[in-house]
Order: sequence, then C-alpha cells, then structure tokens
Amino acid sequence: MKKIAFSFLMFAVSTAVWGEAGTAVMKGTTPDSKLGGTVTFKDTKEGLKVTARLAGLTPGPHAFHIHQFGDCGDTGMASGGHFNPKHAPHGFLPKDGMKKAHAGDMGNITALEDGTAALDITLPRMSLSGGRLSVAGRAVIVHEKADDFSQPAGNAGGRAGCGTIAITGE
Ligand code: CU
Ligand code: ZN
Repeated sequence: MKKIAFSFLMFAVSTAVWGEAGTAVMKGTTPDSKLGGTVTFKDTKEGLKVTARLAGLTPGPHAFHIHQFGDCGDTGMASGGHFNPKHAPHGFLPKDGMKKAHAGDMGNITALEDGTAALDITLPRMSLSGGRLSVAGRAVIVHEKADDFSQPAGNAGGRAGCGTIAITGE
C-alpha cells in the first residue's frame, strides 16, 4: 500500500518529463529568404532550456517568441499570437515571470554582422510536453525587428522566420 502511494506521488510531480528534447527547424517565411537554423529544447529541473543557432538574419536584435499554434503558413501569421496560457501582458519571461509576461516571451536574439545569432535561455516552469505550459506543437518565431517590450506584443514587425517545435528525442 505504501509503495502504491509513493508511485502515485512520483507520477504527480513528474508532469514534465525531465530529459525530453525537441527541435524547431527554422525557415524564412518568404521564398527568397536565406534565414535558417535550429532551436532546440530540453527539459531540465530549472525549466525549459532553449538553445537557438540561426543564420541569414539582418544584423542586430530580433524579437524571439513562442507563438500559440504550430503553423508557419501565411508568412508566419498562421502561428497566431504569443503563447499566453496565463492571460498575462507582454514582457520578458525570465525577468518578469509568468504573471507579467507571456509564456512565449523569450526577448531578443541578436545577429552579428555575418547574420548569425545564438541564444541560450532557460524558461522557468515551462516544459516540452505535459501540462498547460508545454510548447511541443507550437511555433518559434523570429521577427524582422527588435522586441521593445511595449504592449501588446513588443512592436516587432513581421515574422521573418518560423519553425514548428517537434519532440525529437530524450
Ligand atoms: Cu512574436
Ligand atoms: Zn508576448
């Protein structure tokens, strides 16, 4: 009996499967775009670890978000708005937290003169799959302009690149 209760407890706390991994293959939203790269996701005890490696961007900062739907059609517009299961205002999740930022608010990724960009960020409380704060099947969007953190969505312009987040390993 004790053993059954313990097993149930372990199941209850592990809604996020620690160690599961995902990938979004990023592509430009227009046929002539040279944008490409990958964004990988890994569940850790600290939250969802995001590792982005992009190329083909214009130099400078670009808003970088998880959008609600995993559909990159219509030049990225089919991905809907920022992933926002807690109905929060727009912000920067690692700094502002879940009540003052959308769950998909990853801030900016900054491209160098050669168009490449790298970002490593951990999103507290979020996971790849399981529960309301999971991102598998949604989309990563990199915008044409910087996120200035104004309402309602950071004034970041069009959607330059998009990729759907798929579960790809452990
Ligand atoms: Cu966005
Ligand atoms: Zn947002």
